[in-house]
Amino acid sequence: MNYLQIKDISKTFEEKRVLNHINLQVQKDEFLTLLGPSGCGKTTLLRILGGFEQADAGQIIFENKDISHQAPYERPMNTVFQQYALFPHLNVYNNIAFGLKLKKMKAQEIKERVSKILELVNLVGYETRTIQGLSGGQQQRVSIARALVNEPKVLLLDEPLAALDLNLRKRMQLELKNMQQQVGITFIYVTHDQEEALTMSDKIVVLNEGEIQQIGSPVDIYNEPKNSFVANFVGQSNILKGIMVKDFLVKINGIDLICVDKNFAKNERVQVVIRPEDVEISKDKGPFEGRVLSTVFKGIHYEMVLEIMGKEWLSQSTRPWPVGEEVRVFIDPENIHVMKEESHA
Ligand SMILES: Nc1ncnc2c1ncn2[C@@H]1O[C@H](COP(=O)(O)OP(=O)(O)OP(=O)(O)O)[C@@H](O)[C@H]1O
Ligand SMILES: [Mg+2]
Repeated sequence: MNYLQIKDISKTFEEKRVLNHINLQVQKDEFLTLLGPSGCGKTTLLRILGGFEQADAGQIIFENKDISHQAPYERPMNTVFQQYALFPHLNVYNNIAFGLKLKKMKAQEIKERVSKILELVNLVGYETRTIQGLSGGQQQRVSIARALVNEPKVLLLDEPLAALDLNLRKRMQLELKNMQQQVGITFIYVTHDQEEALTMSDKIVVLNEGEIQQIGSPVDIYNEPKNSFVANFVGQSNILKGIMVKDFLVKINGIDLICVDKNFAKNERVQVVIRPEDVEISKDKGPFEGRVLSTVFKGIHYEMVLEIMGKEWLSQSTRPWPVGEEVRVFIDPENIHVMKEESHA
């Protein structure tokens, strides 16, 4: 059954089409991420879902009911905004309890719910702290607690970790994912950080300029990008021109390569995506001859730019190769990803 359906949503601001016919199915308990560059329409779509913005066309269907015209508080959703929007004059407890008091819930029940949530977000003992007395990461937990305490069916999160430094962000990514699994709530998570999306999501929706580019699992999106936008936005890629000679055989720069792709027209022009970590350099193995143009240490690996038949290829390896070295390059058939050629590419 469809849990949450986004049906043909479009939105224009000042004659600029910000969302163009967005169609999306969200399953119960799914961690779904909207991923795309700044300005692609992520926040707008989330605001339309939350009821803070009206779409020009289209519907939001939740459990087979059209909720497109419900007010935010009537929807089975809560939002965690990028700016945490906590009440500075209230302490941690009262920030979290605020919505429940508004609903006139009994004091005892509020207390029980808030303590349960404080445990979940790891803030037991912080009840009477002021908001100013909290670190960024702690404030962020309060804002998540404040949304979760209402027990929404769907939690909307707009770049909730963007303000945190890298280490804390990485830790919170895992914590959030654990929380989501514990509480069994559907998360719709907005980010422009591809690594964050790959780490946390069950399903990723890649957006660009108000249009869905690809929907898939992190592994699918990374390994089988549908077009060059996705290939470049989700990780770095080498995108090369090729000719699909026949099933399982692609030609790049006149060199035949065995691949795992099929069902293209005979001799169809294609684009071939090769991830930098799959460009294997050696002294004598592989069909491509090249030269190392640069080598940079990146922490876990070295990043090398190679010149191969007049083109620059990016390669990542734990082993550095000296600049100027003549090398050969091998690519495993499994790591060659063939895409249809795009007319505008
Ligand atoms: N209220 C508004 N009035 C006019 N234009 C708007 C309004 N809200 C958003 N826009 C425009 O719509 C486009 C999409 O904005 P949106 O905030 O959805 O992008 P985003 O993907 O969330 O970007 P970011 O990653 O920077 O947060 C942008 O060009 C933005 O300037
Ligand atoms: Mg935004």
